[in-house]
Amino acid sequence: MKIYFAPLEGITGYIYRNQYNMHFGQGHIDKYFIPFISPNQSSGYTGRERADIAPEHNRGMYAVPQILTNNSSYFIRAARMLSGLGYREINFNLGCPSGTVASKFRGAGFLAKPDMLDAFLDEVFSDSDMRRLDISIKTRIGMADADEFGRLLAIYNKYPLKELIIHPRLRTDFYKNKPDWKAFGQAVQESVHTLCYNGDIFTRKDYLNFTQEFPQIECVMLGRGLIADPALPAAIRMPVGQKRDPEAEKQALRLFHDDVYHDYLDAVSGSSNIIHKMKELWRYMSANYENCEKELKQIKKARSKWDYQDAVNGFFERAAFREQEHIYF
Ligand SMILES: Cc1cc2nc3c(=O)[nH]c(=O)nc-3n(C[C@H](O)[C@H](O)[C@H](O)COP(=O)(O)O)c2cc1C
Repeated sequence: MKIYFAPLEGITGYIYRNQYNMHFGQGHIDKYFIPFISPNQSSGYTGRERADIAPEHNRGMYAVPQILTNNSSYFIRAARMLSGLGYREINFNLGCPSGTVASKFRGAGFLAKPDMLDAFLDEVFSDSDMRRLDISIKTRIGMADADEFGRLLAIYNKYPLKELIIHPRLRTDFYKNKPDWKAFGQAVQESVHTLCYNGDIFTRKDYLNFTQEFPQIECVMLGRGLIADPALPAAIRMPVGQKRDPEAEKQALRLFHDDVYHDYLDAVSGSSNIIHKMKELWRYMSANYENCEKELKQIKKARSKWDYQDAVNGFFERAAFREQEHIYF
């Protein structure tokens, strides 16, 4: 099974990705997807985007940058720039549900315009530079109705994609409801592409349920489950019968947490920004721990670095790791 590291803008920036790779990723993660860059008319990129795609921030791992746009010339220009930086594979974002993105028919919003999407892909794949790159798509199953998916699959079938990553939710679902396995099954039947499944694999149990339903699929992408439990890919790859070691898991999370935190202290200005970024991680990382409600509350309330560090120390002293069978975010 191949395991891909999902892009989560605001969470899996280059600092998190590099520390993740050092602490947990080696031998477990096949590809790291970089959160999207959004080319525009001026071709200026934000500081976050530039830092995320810088080759020196993506060494020692197989990193795939992602482009979000509905304009084929912007896509081609951005892909050429990324190719110049040394990337050979590029992912196209057709999944972002956010209001500001989708209302401009980008991300999942582009799925509402299948004719335009077809023309876009035709222009991209007619370009000789693009044909030298590996281009993959990460898609939802439609804007508002799963019936849209058949048309989209037929469009994707016309182009030589490297692979098709499917998060089987509608744009209108955002992250609510359950991934639609019926729609994913339709893709297994109808798509000519190599498929990767993405969505709500939060525990080893979820993974096993998925492989039971779709034994023919050889690739999964993990997002929130991997942030909640950074050792999830290793747990997925454990031989049957082998048990996880709660104390070792906690120690590993502490070392990882401290390295991410210290890198943020070095790279991000303003302690409130840093604490905010760490709190985002805790929204997920608390899922497999118990006996620590008070400490988690303190982390949530922390305003200064000192309060934060105190609360984190308390958490690691008292919290007990227990792998959950089911997690709900
Ligand atoms: C905060 C956040 C940021 C995200 N940013 C991106 C992004 O930049 N590009 C993208 O393709 N998907 C993005 N996603 C979607 C995830 O990559 C993934 O498809 C989604 O979380 C479902 O997988 P999961 O259930 O394993 O988390 C984001 C999701 C979240 C929650």
